[in-house]
Amino acid sequence: MSAAPRPGVTVFLTGLSGAGKSTIADALVADLESEGRPVTVLDGDVVRTHLSSELSFTKEHRDLNIRRIGWVAGEVVKHGGTVVVAAIAPYEQAREQARELVEQHGRFVLVHLSTPLEVCEARDVKGLYAKARAGEIPEFTGVSDPYEPPVAPELVLDTSVTPLADSVARIRAAMDGRTAQV
Ligand code: ADX
Repeated sequence: MSAAPRPGVTVFLTGLSGAGKSTIADALVADLESEGRPVTVLDGDVVRTHLSSELSFTKEHRDLNIRRIGWVAGEVVKHGGTVVVAAIAPYEQAREQARELVEQHGRFVLVHLSTPLEVCEARDVKGLYAKARAGEIPEFTGVSDPYEPPVAPELVLDTSVTPLADSVARIRAAMDGRTAQV
């Protein structure tokens, strides 16, 4: 008898701009694909280009963006797929709505990248914090817009203290319902 098929799973990386979401997503995807496991990536910047191009950064539009992401993730998970989401997703209720959409079909692993604002701002990879501080970007998360830390994430990782490989190992373990020995 063959083994039962693995259920679909969504890893949802949430955190401030510059917290390390895309870096971890890239490393996690490489790790999964090295095992021949295909991954659907839903990155905030890319989703906002293709699926949510008309949306702004008001709370209403951010929540709609996250619900869309949750719905797409659920559709992939329904067929046993693996999804990696990387989005700021600053509001608890919208994240939990995404969870509900996915958990109808499979597993949902919420990972809070808790990298402190000071570190994200010092990194300022895209130069957006400088613009936000100068008042050029309104409603910028962490500066002039809120980020609600997740109430019950499966995992919390601070990328300013946790090495990338350890973060990936911990996420892989959480995806399998284990605790990593790192
Ligand atoms: S979310 O709030 O709706 O989850 P999302 O992850 O899709 O945000 O997009 C965030 C990206 O949009 C950031 O990485 C940043 O490059 C860009 N961005 C532009 N304006 C803002 C803003 N006001 N707040 C946060 N990010 C912004």
